[in-house]
Amino acid sequence: MAEATQGRPVSDGSAYGRSQQHPDWELASVGPGTPCGELLRRYWQPVATSLSVTDRPRYVRVLGEALIIFRDKKGRPGLLYPRCMHRGTTLFYGKVSEEGIACCYHGWLFDVEGRCLRQPCEPDGGRNREVARQPWYPVEECYGLVFAYLGPLDRKPVLPRYDILEELGRDEEIRAYVGAFGATGDNSLPVAPYSWLHMNDNVMDPYHVYVLHSTFTGVQFAPQFALMPEVDFFATDEGVCYSAKRKLDDGRAYDRISSWIMPNIMSVPNPIDINQVRSNMITWSLPVDDSHFTMATAARMAKGTPDMFGGIRLNGKLWGEMTEAEHQATPGDYEAQAGQGPISLHSEEHLASSDRGIIMQRRILKQQIKVVAEGGDPICVHFDPARALVKIRSGNFYNAPQAA
Ligand code: FES
Ligand SMILES: [Fe+2]
Repeated sequence: MAEATQGRPVSDGSAYGRSQQHPDWELASVGPGTPCGELLRRYWQPVATSLSVTDRPRYVRVLGEALIIFRDKKGRPGLLYPRCMHRGTTLFYGKVSEEGIACCYHGWLFDVEGRCLRQPCEPDGGRNREVARQPWYPVEECYGLVFAYLGPLDRKPVLPRYDILEELGRDEEIRAYVGAFGATGDNSLPVAPYSWLHMNDNVMDPYHVYVLHSTFTGVQFAPQFALMPEVDFFATDEGVCYSAKRKLDDGRAYDRISSWIMPNIMSVPNPIDINQVRSNMITWSLPVDDSHFTMATAARMAKGTPDMFGGIRLNGKLWGEMTEAEHQATPGDYEAQAGQGPISLHSEEHLASSDRGIIMQRRILKQQIKVVAEGGDPICVHFDPARALVKIRSGNFYNAPQAA
């Protein structure tokens, strides 16, 4: 200790002898039986785009579980535990038919809900096959995404809908995308190599928009973000919003409202065309496992407009394609979030006044972890379809210029 200020000891700052630091495991662990893993399992999670689910089985990894997703030849999507219940080979090599998926090894046939329909090597096709059930999860399709519910079946909620994605005009369509930072792939979820919490924190962090995206190396989104905002964070029924107000050069008062919705959903207004008023997309920060995540997005777009998915290009390159020197020259969300490590060490954070939104998010997550652990249903989980429409406030909003 070098000195003391107002009675408080001040560290001399040496890195020597610093204590071991650790993630906040209550939030960071997503596997079955973990506190946040159980919370996340109470909500529908988008695990694939509808287009990517075909009669060719593929692996998806979500909430620390490896699963097989496929679409039977009647068009029904299925999500099954991959190890065949007979003797454990993977259904990845299975053959899909109208009825379901047949294991390659001895042909046991399972439907999309895991019921065993045939055991061809057993007398009469399996006299006890009705008691056999390959572990399965419910799935539903909406907005071009396949949603899975990995929680207890007796607590399965209604699949939510979002007002900004409803009632499309004739010239509009919904586009869906699953992937992180321009990474793409066919055989597994394309992933970013760090915890979903890093992106989840980022959603309620309007100040990094001013620094990282606007003033640190240059303008990555709208140039108006280089004005320091006046920020208000407020709780909603579904989570937290921020309102970041800026006085624009043309005299208009600009209010950018962004939303975080329990437990891992964001709706961010268009960051490039800030004249687009309402946010047109919903994105899930989807935990793949404790130290990998991906993003699933459903966006309302005018037909024929080019896709904006697959990552933003800087100097013609996706983030994943840049050299190390280019990453250093123009860091963006990927560099800042990957730079926090595979899972941030929350015990050594120094949360400050600008982190109020993140503090509110984490408090809600922890309260709801407790609700689930005590046998209750968390917020934003509804069993009545009439209550399943979520109203999104996010957008770029303006007041007319004030008269001088
Ligand atoms: S291991 Fe699948 S049918 Fe035998
Ligand atoms: Fe960002």
